[in-house]
Amino acid sequence: MLVGWALQLSPLQLATRERESIAQPGLDRVTAAMERRLGGEPVGRIMGEREFYGLGFHLNAATLEPRPDTELLVDLALDLLPRGGRLLDLGTGTGCIPIAVLHARPDALAAAIDLSEKAMEAAQLNAERHGVAERLELLLGSWFEPLGVVGPAAPQFNLVVSNPPYIETSEIASLEREVREHDPILALDGGPDGLGPYPIIAAGARNWLGPGGWLLLEIGSTQGAAVATVLAQEGYAKITIHKDLRGLDRVVSGHHPGQ
Ligand SMILES: C[S@@+](CC[C@H](N)C(=O)[O-])C[C@H]1O[C@@H](n2cnc3c(N)ncnc32)[C@H](O)[C@@H]1O
Repeated sequence: MLVGWALQLSPLQLATRERESIAQPGLDRVTAAMERRLGGEPVGRIMGEREFYGLGFHLNAATLEPRPDTELLVDLALDLLPRGGRLLDLGTGTGCIPIAVLHARPDALAAAIDLSEKAMEAAQLNAERHGVAERLELLLGSWFEPLGVVGPAAPQFNLVVSNPPYIETSEIASLEREVREHDPILALDGGPDGLGPYPIIAAGARNWLGPGGWLLLEIGSTQGAAVATVLAQEGYAKITIHKDLRGLDRVVSGHHPGQ
């Protein structure tokens, strides 16, 4: 991938032109990319882009690199979102979740929030790149705060989704260096028990979900029972823990039973 990126050759061109020699400027670009990779920088960071749900997402220093694990959240959202439905994504980073949903569903609308202004810039670029910017409202601030005051005139959502920071603070130092040194700490740190954002999101989502709406939360693979308990305490029904393609617990969903 790095050689193709440095030489601006597609995988097919790389295979069919493998006997051609590389001119010095190209070789310099390949060498520089290899040195960055050997220094622990992930391939996506070097290329400034990562694929998610079949779409390319521009990255910057404030965005988590989207992970394939999170594609399960998109699959579930696409199943649950009614025609013409509205989705709210909390902690949007590159915007990968709502942009993938809106790209697949031209009838849908979404709002997305992040605390990082720089992440919002990446999300805006990505929304424009994939032709969904007019259907995605990007809001800067903490969790539900940019939505303003809850009231009868407030917007309601069919789905609230989030892949919040969920790593225990004390575990961050032991993560592989590709993550520890290159993903932003704001995107990783879920507080002392890694569960900090879940009660805030579960409680707040009750105010913004319409009757019968769904909350979908990505979790760390050991957090299923704890997050399911949080949702039960907040009055959600039909609580389900969904497994990812590796067979690990990855998403907890709950149904808002209505008023
Ligand atoms: C694990 S990353 C997920 C990014 C993206 N949704 C994805 O799946 O790749 C968590 C995101 O939450 C954002 N975040 C952290 N604390 C926040 C807060 N209090 N309010 C809003 N967003 C927050 C971070 O900036 C980061 O973009």
